[in-house]
Amino acid sequence: MPRLGVNIDHVATIRQARRTFEPDPVRAAIICELAGADGIVAHLREDRRHMQDRDLELIRQVINIKLNFEMAATDEMVEKALGILPEQVTLVPEKREELTTEGGLDVRKQIRELSRVVGILQGNGITVSLFIDPEEEQIRASIETGAFAVELHTGRYAESCLKGKFEKELRKLITAVEIAKKAHLSVNAGHGLTYQNVALAANISGIEELNIGHTIIARAVLVGLERSVKDMVALVKI
Ligand code: PXP
Repeated sequence: MPRLGVNIDHVATIRQARRTFEPDPVRAAIICELAGADGIVAHLREDRRHMQDRDLELIRQVINIKLNFEMAATDEMVEKALGILPEQVTLVPEKREELTTEGGLDVRKQIRELSRVVGILQGNGITVSLFIDPEEEQIRASIETGAFAVELHTGRYAESCLKGKFEKELRKLITAVEIAKKAHLSVNAGHGLTYQNVALAANISGIEELNIGHTIIARAVLVGLERSVKDMVALVKI
């Protein structure tokens, strides 16, 4: 039974559309905790397009569940992480022009830099998870960085569900989990998961945490955040 991390960037995206004070992701984080989420995920992007520094600082203070701080492996963000001291950092690739995090890290290509950042963060007691595509090459490179965890990108699986042909992508996830577990990595997964496609992912043996954002906040607009988180908890914790 995986844990559920709720990504609340999307609350901040609505606020930033008007550059105003509402809706406040800090309040959203508290509601997610009360509704049964196991963790809060928040991505502070270099361009500050949704989450702001103040959000991360306050969320750190008010929640009593795990904070998973998503960030690019830059010196600026390493400094932020050391100030905030989340339980976990998930390192993600960041491109200014993308709508959301579109693909996993190419760990092999940046292995020296990622290893350096992993060393600093884990040396300060923060578990590091690398967001990667479910490919053996990326898992092997992740192991070499010394990271304790990986987050498998479920975007392709989610897209394949929309087309009704998900078996191949599901199998890729299952194989990737097996390889990572054999190497004693903690395995998380996320991106593009919805109320419709989450059950099969939640059922994969070995996945410890699912990180889900858009679909929960989209439903919250219609039915309220407490109910949308509870609906997801019911599907993830089967
Ligand atoms: N995991 C990571 C690493 C992400 O970057 C995101 C999107 O911010 C998510 C999970 C959540 O994706 P979604 O909003 O599609 O549920």
